[in-house]
Amino acid sequence: MDSIKVGLLGLGVVGGGTWKVLARNRQEISRRAGRNIEVTRVAVRDVAKARKLLGPDVPVDANPHAVVNDPTIDIVVELIGGDTLSRELVLEAIKNGKHVVTANKALLAKHGDEIFAAASQRGVMVAFEAAVAGGIPIIKAMREGLTANRIEWVAGIINGTTNFILSEMRSRGLSFDTVLAEAQKLGYAEADPTFDIEGVDAAHKLTLLASIAFGIPVQFDKAYIEGISKLASEDIKMAERLGYRIKLLGITKRRPQGIELRVHPALVPAKSLLANVEGAMNAVLVKGDAVGQSLYYGKGAGEEPTASSVVADLVDVARLMTSDPEHRVPHLAFQPDAMSDTPILDIGDVVTSYYLRLTVADQPGVLAELAKHLADAGISIGSMIQQPNDASDMADLIFLTHEALERNVAQAITKIEALPFVRSRVTRIRMESLA
Ligand code: NDP
Ligand code: HSE
Repeated sequence: MDSIKVGLLGLGVVGGGTWKVLARNRQEISRRAGRNIEVTRVAVRDVAKARKLLGPDVPVDANPHAVVNDPTIDIVVELIGGDTLSRELVLEAIKNGKHVVTANKALLAKHGDEIFAAASQRGVMVAFEAAVAGGIPIIKAMREGLTANRIEWVAGIINGTTNFILSEMRSRGLSFDTVLAEAQKLGYAEADPTFDIEGVDAAHKLTLLASIAFGIPVQFDKAYIEGISKLASEDIKMAERLGYRIKLLGITKRRPQGIELRVHPALVPAKSLLANVEGAMNAVLVKGDAVGQSLYYGKGAGEEPTASSVVADLVDVARLMTSDPEHRVPHLAFQPDAMSDTPILDIGDVVTSYYLRLTVADQPGVLAELAKHLADAGISIGSMIQQPNDASDMADLIFLTHEALERNVAQAITKIEALPFVRSRVTRIRMESLA
């Protein structure tokens, strides 16, 4: 049988890894795919640099449109990133009847509906395993392995850079900037690392997971996003003292009124599995009504772990390209005409527990008044600790609440911050039991 001809757009961290894995495991991969998978054309900006990796035989272009319009190419692998040129190229490839493999979560989280609709109309596949949690086959697991289940929630550590930063800050006491520079050197960070730090990359991935879990359109613009840049090291230490660790979590949950879609730092019990996911590792916990909780763990970023997913998609496409498009696995797990319009909830409608820290004047009646404000907002205190502040006439208070409505917590915080004896902003970090 003829080999499958692949056009590779981008030969950076993931593109380079894909080239190496395909070359190293060529025989094993063709035994699995039933055909050879061959990169026959590559596009990059710096052609001379690419030549060093590819050798003299593979044509390299500085114009990616030339690859997408090459009639001999069967599958376009988009590993350029961003959401402007990549959108153009992916839609052009689809129009030309080519299957697409991409690792680009930013692209799919923003333009997924348009891209999947175009692909369905043209009868081609758009595979994106590498776009969520790098080397972990979470798309395959949720889209196919868990297909019997009504998914109740998904909670994950889905950004390697921020998990690496939080782990190194906690365990080695390193500074934020030192660890970020290391993550960039290791190829984990996005081209714009604020995407990692501010939770945007995790929200891109969570948006895709929510669509696959609940059969809803891709709605990145409705995600609540809070990153780790405002986390204070004293809260990381205090969480540890209280038996918790702080992780940047992506959470999507089915509730009677709609779907929660949120990324933010959260205290998780130190003994939970997610608390012990360290470094650039990722983990996704899925709760299905039939299977219960299942956990998917592995490398969430980096050259070859991500290439592992790109190549798995290539093999999947190679196996399925001769099959009837109607009988392929739907892009977002549910048939396109069976998608649901369940709304995404506002963050004010989220219900969870909270860690609240504030500095107050150390004087009689303070605790009673704070407790009253919390009670008036329907917030029940689970536990409280007071510790001395550097200033002798002040104290630091930490409250752990029971579950409460976010809107009520936000209102209580506004009132508390206006009290005359309160000497700081209230630090609020959500807590997740993951039960
Ligand atoms: P890199 O920056 O390492 O590589 C980007 C590649 O695209 C480079 O080869 C670059 O060429 C090429 N490129 C950029 N612009 C153009 C252009 N206009 N024309 C032709 N080629 C171009 O990115 P990554 O490999 O890290 O990321 C690629 C994608 O994979 C992104 O969508 C990212 O989000 C995603 N991803 C990344 C992971 C990781 O661990 N790094 C993990 C999972 C997903 P040149 O080399 O000449 O500059
Ligand atoms: N920047 C991403 C991360 C790469 O740190 O997880 C993998 O998607």
